[in-house]
Amino acid sequence: MLQTPMADHAAPAVALAVRDLAVQFRSEQGVVRALDGVSFDLHAGRTLGIVGESGCGKSVTARSILRLIDHPGIITGGRMVLDPSTPREIDLASLDPESRQMREVRGGRIGLIFQEPMTALSVHYTVGNQLIEAVRQHHSVSVAEARNRATELLRDVGIPRPETRIDAYPFELSGGLRQRVGIAMALAGDPDIVIADEPTTALDVTTQAQILSLLRGLQEAKNISLMLITHDMGVIAEMADEVTVMYLGRVVEVAPVRQLFAAPRHPYTRALLHAVPSILARPRQRLSTIGGAVPHPGSRPFGCSFHPRCAERVGAVCMERIPDPVPPGQAGASCFRTEVPA
Ligand SMILES: Nc1ncnc2c1ncn2[C@@H]1O[C@H](COP(=O)(O)OP(=O)(O)OP(=O)(O)O)[C@@H](O)[C@H]1O
Ligand SMILES: [Mg+2]
Repeated sequence: MLQTPMADHAAPAVALAVRDLAVQFRSEQGVVRALDGVSFDLHAGRTLGIVGESGCGKSVTARSILRLIDHPGIITGGRMVLDPSTPREIDLASLDPESRQMREVRGGRIGLIFQEPMTALSVHYTVGNQLIEAVRQHHSVSVAEARNRATELLRDVGIPRPETRIDAYPFELSGGLRQRVGIAMALAGDPDIVIADEPTTALDVTTQAQILSLLRGLQEAKNISLMLITHDMGVIAEMADEVTVMYLGRVVEVAPVRQLFAAPRHPYTRALLHAVPSILARPRQRLSTIGGAVPHPGSRPFGCSFHPRCAERVGAVCMERIPDPVPPGQAGASCFRTEVPA
């Protein structure tokens, strides 16, 4: 059985343990290691924030868990264990993506909320028809029962007049309402884990706050284990219990949210935090951004991948060796700086 060390005795069970996950995209141009040994724990009933700049591998992580990586991506190593250390434990990496078991996990155990709700919705069918089909994929109920359940789901996600709105087409709804339907679709199979990949990035600020508040309410009411992917430290502060910071396909820091904000250990985390607009900032003060861009994973820098952009390099070691990964199940940073005695 997979060992999942707990931070303390009060820590809840681990719902999903990802260990040493490696994903490559192979093409004629070469091999791109999009994920290179990613490990983290998603605790039951908690919100795990996954944060990092564009291209760090957040979506590839989400899609790997659901076994939905786009061709030519392949999982080349690692495990993704549901219900670890229980008799029900199952390694999703070992399943055939097309198998019945994996289709049941998708939607039935793990729901996925996309950045753009139209990824999950069709323009050709009413909201109700799509929700009814999603309900019936995971529950053997009549169409009438599924319709009642679909109406309930729309009410759960705060859609006004769900009895009428159920017959609307997605294009008749505003962006905010469409994302609410997207959330209802993710919940249709009663999953206990939900992965939300940048669920509010496409929305205006006010709608974003409403959707985050809805997600938090649903997560608490249904005791969902939520994996929330974002590039926005503000969203992390508001939503997450624990945080995994990713850089170029690797985990660079893991910490409880308060610890991450109070005492970030990795220079990349510190740089991300400095780039957050502060409510204390003067109105026209410029936002600081991290110098340089995330390199392409196909041309990963030697040594610590972050070293060319790092303002806190400790020496040649940063350019020559890869720092040890954060031990699974523990808080820490993958950085020579934290390994060097003060
Ligand atoms: N379909 C694909 N074909 C080839 N490479 C891909 C593909 N999808 C992802 N990658 C590689 O994986 C890397 C990580 O992509 P991913 O979509 O996970 O980033 P992300 O962290 O979700 O970024 P964003 O914040 O922009 O959504 C990309 O930089 C790219 O090199
Ligand atoms: Mg993404």
